[in-house]
Amino acid sequence: MTVSIETPLTIALSKGRIFKDTLPLLKQAGIEPLDDPETSRKLILDTSHPLVKFVLIRATDVPTYVQWGAADIGVAGKDVLMEHGGDGLYEPLDLRIARCRMMIAGRPGADTSARRLRIATKYVNAARAFFAARGQQVEVIKLYGSMELAPLVGLSDLIVDLVESGNTLKANGLIPLEHMHDISSRLVVNKASWKMKHATVQALVTALRDAVGD
Ligand code: PRP
Repeated sequence: MTVSIETPLTIALSKGRIFKDTLPLLKQAGIEPLDDPETSRKLILDTSHPLVKFVLIRATDVPTYVQWGAADIGVAGKDVLMEHGGDGLYEPLDLRIARCRMMIAGRPGADTSARRLRIATKYVNAARAFFAARGQQVEVIKLYGSMELAPLVGLSDLIVDLVESGNTLKANGLIPLEHMHDISSRLVVNKASWKMKHATVQALVTALRDAVGD
């Protein structure tokens, strides 16, 4: 099915898994990139639809581009959206791709209910909200990657991280201790675009909902 697009539309995507998993869904809506992002260094890609462009940005920047209207639509992980806070965005569709779990992990036997825990994570807001919701005081240390190292060298008692196969934890002698959130990628839409480009945005959301099988 080719979606009926009547206004210019910019779609923000991040390279890697989100791009790979989103492409088949967009293809079903009749939208395909004209360049391969794995070989091209272009950040703006034309597509098979003359009014639709892709912008390629870091996963954590997708909500920002969409919030400020530099992109009308984006695809972002729920983990990234929880950190961003969702200001200026609608989140109309769970694309059910790039699925994993956000978990508390640590050394075997570590107590996730202990007092005054130190938690190392990239997901500072999600971690603070989770522990605050159960009245537990924790100290959250912001990291940008390789969280598994933190409990091994005494930086923290626990980590909050994404777990898919569990292999990274296992390779570092850590175990998943508590499930926090199921994570998947969501379609996000700029609030002004939702109003001003409603017919086009709605047509794309409907086509993607069909592609997801919702
Ligand atoms: C993610 C996550 C874990 C790993 C989990 O990292 O932060 O380290 O994948 O996957 P697994 O359970 O299948 O082993 P990613 O590779 O995305 O790198 P980053 O956290 O450094 O961005």
